Amino acid sequence: MAEPILKWAGGKRQILHEIVALMPKDFRNRTFHEPFFGGGAVTFWMEPKRGTINDINPKLINFYVVVRDHVDELIEDAKRHKNEKEYFYKARAEFNEIVRNGFEIPNIRLASLLLYLNKTAFNGLYRENRKGEFNVPFGRYKNPKIVDEERLRKASEVLKKLDIYNEDFTYILRVAKPGDLVYFDPPYHPVSETASFTSYSKEDFSKEDQERLRDVCLELHEKGVYFILSNSYVKPIRELYEGIEGFRISKIYAKRPINSKADRRGEVPEMLVTNVPTELQLGRERAKLLVNSDKSKALMTSKSLIEYLTVAERSI
Ligand SMILES: C[S@@+](CC[C@H](N)C(=O)[O-])C[C@H]1O[C@@H](n2cnc3c(N)ncnc32)[C@H](O)[C@@H]1O
Repeated sequence: MAEPILKWAGGKRQILHEIVALMPKDFRNRTFHEPFFGGGAVTFWMEPKRGTINDINPKLINFYVVVRDHVDELIEDAKRHKNEKEYFYKARAEFNEIVRNGFEIPNIRLASLLLYLNKTAFNGLYRENRKGEFNVPFGRYKNPKIVDEERLRKASEVLKKLDIYNEDFTYILRVAKPGDLVYFDPPYHPVSETASFTSYSKEDFSKEDQERLRDVCLELHEKGVYFILSNSYVKPIRELYEGIEGFRISKIYAKRPINSKADRRGEVPEMLVTNVPTELQLGRERAKLLVNSDKSKALMTSKSLIEYLTVAERSI
């Protein structure tokens, strides 16, 4: 089990067991795809033997390509960063300048700056203004771990097995084969009733995008590809998936720690949709056991860990 290396809005670690519960029991043998990668909590947990990841954000994808192919150079560069206010604003300006001038993937310096800004910016947020500039202020953390070498190297090993794309999510229709498993985690539909559902920047996900995504799910279903999708549990989204033969909808609750509006922190209902038949699913109890056994790995000696995992795997 590897762990995410960036804090990303919409991170899925705390509902991981709910997602894993819907996976087919033999998920480890399947090719896995994550078309809205973000922080990639599901892929890093799963460590697929093969598959693809994708995100429309080129700075994010540059970061993962660099972690996969140039992890030593990245670590070396990132170790030189300083958690100081003046340095932060210089680094932020440098990041925005590289983006403004256009860059080719891989760009090691850009990846190093993204890692630094992600660990030292206010709230660990990644937010851009309309011009696509990173504009989050200095976070004033006492001692943030900017370079976690072990995590970065572990993530690099996971990514080495995967193809990385920087496209719209519809790339999945080209690459997914019957029997593959896909996890979709699109930008969520706003929960508040007053929030508008129209696109106001290019990274935004509009009503039409949500419809395109539903159509992609239908196409994958016909092709024999399994998918699991998460979104907010709200009527306009639920309606897109209700009443479709072979689709199952469930409601779960999740805490949303990264949210710029403090009053919206707390538990919110989320929706999971899947076409994995119930009888093939791993189930909640087994998923909890698997996900929790991973969490306790770090606390165990290697002997007790092997015994624990043998028990957990045997019960599947
Ligand atoms: C909710 S986040 C994913 C969170 C992730 N699962 C995690 O655990 O951290 C959604 C991601 O979708 C990306 N995105 C937005 N529109 C997209 C599109 N049309 N195609 C592919 N990715 C898109 C965003 O850049 C963002 O990183």
